Amino acid sequence: MITGGAGYIGSHIAERINTNKYNVIIYDNLVTGRKKLINKKAKFVKGDIKNLKQLSNTIKKNDISLIIHLAAYLNIAEAEQKKGKYFKNNVGGTLNLVKACENSGVKSIIFSSSCSVYGNINGAVKEKHKLKPKSYYAFTKFKSEKIIEKYSSKYNYNYAILRYFNVAGASPSGKIGEIESSHGHLIKNLAIQYYKKNPRVNIYGNDYNTKDGTCIRDYIHVTDLANIHIKALKKISSNKKSLILNCGYGKGYSVKEIVNIFKKIKKNVKVYKQNRRKGDVAQIYSDITRLKKVLKWRPKFNNIKFILKSSINWEKNEN
Ligand SMILES: NC(=O)c1ccc[n+]([C@@H]2O[C@H](COP(=O)([O-])OP(=O)(O)OC[C@H]3O[C@@H](n4cnc5c(N)ncnc54)[C@H](O)[C@@H]3O)[C@@H](O)[C@H]2O)c1
Repeated sequence: MITGGAGYIGSHIAERINTNKYNVIIYDNLVTGRKKLINKKAKFVKGDIKNLKQLSNTIKKNDISLIIHLAAYLNIAEAEQKKGKYFKNNVGGTLNLVKACENSGVKSIIFSSSCSVYGNINGAVKEKHKLKPKSYYAFTKFKSEKIIEKYSSKYNYNYAILRYFNVAGASPSGKIGEIESSHGHLIKNLAIQYYKKNPRVNIYGNDYNTKDGTCIRDYIHVTDLANIHIKALKKISSNKKSLILNCGYGKGYSVKEIVNIFKKIKKNVKVYKQNRRKGDVAQIYSDITRLKKVLKWRPKFNNIKFILKSSINWEKNEN
């Protein structure tokens, strides 16, 4: 079962799953997800993770053994304003999910966490680094991680907590890509601007303590990330151990660097400097030694121009 499987990352994971081997259930309330992203070979349940009864029934009725839990709200700026809404959905929803595993056949859970649980980092971050969430959204991911860990022995499942860095790009199939524009993701925003007559891009903060004053992030192509899920699922369901893994490429790009790449593709783009956004950290990129060692995973799409172009290509469908 994939919660949030009608969303950007969930639909890419569903596309990578071998449906000859697994029956896939997509559980999503479509708050930001879309029907057109739902994998044709999967069964769709329109459901909310805030609804414990519906979750329990779905898990039991469909005899679910593996869960990939992505359903969440993820707009960092909105989370600062609407803390209750984010707590109820992201933390309350995760608590419901683990409770729904009681007396069920669920053996393994994969949880979509975020690099934001680390807070401000100077350099590459390892999984064992102390967690110090800075934004409220990050706090909801931190609390959810703790819930997944805490209940694993009580409800008898093992887990993989995957801490995504910045996810971008679209499937080479051309059928699925990032849909929601309100999350405030840089590469999605640039892809939208590519199709505008008078394109513009905002840079939020140019006075950070980084090489060019703008924020530094580690971008991972969504197909590479989806493949990590498949490998992690196989690993934890065969060796019965739990895992925490960073999911990135181990390389940071500044916002300015990305915008400069975009400028070469879209020459008439106008760049505006804005104030810092609340909740943004100055720089963060991953140390992926553990990811490579434990899953024997290697990146395939780790070219930032390719990532940007694949997002632009997908955005054509949205126009
Ligand atoms: N996109 C990124 O860069 C990024 C980075 C780190 C972590 N994440 C995490 O990855 C996960 C997926 O993000 P995404 O980028 O695919 O976003 P998305 O908005 O495209 O997908 C989220 C999905 O969850 C569903 N959903 C939300 N609340 C729900 C609820 N109460 N019940 C049922 N379904 C619900 C939405 O309808 C949507 O389909 C999220 O947990 C997010 O926090 C994303």
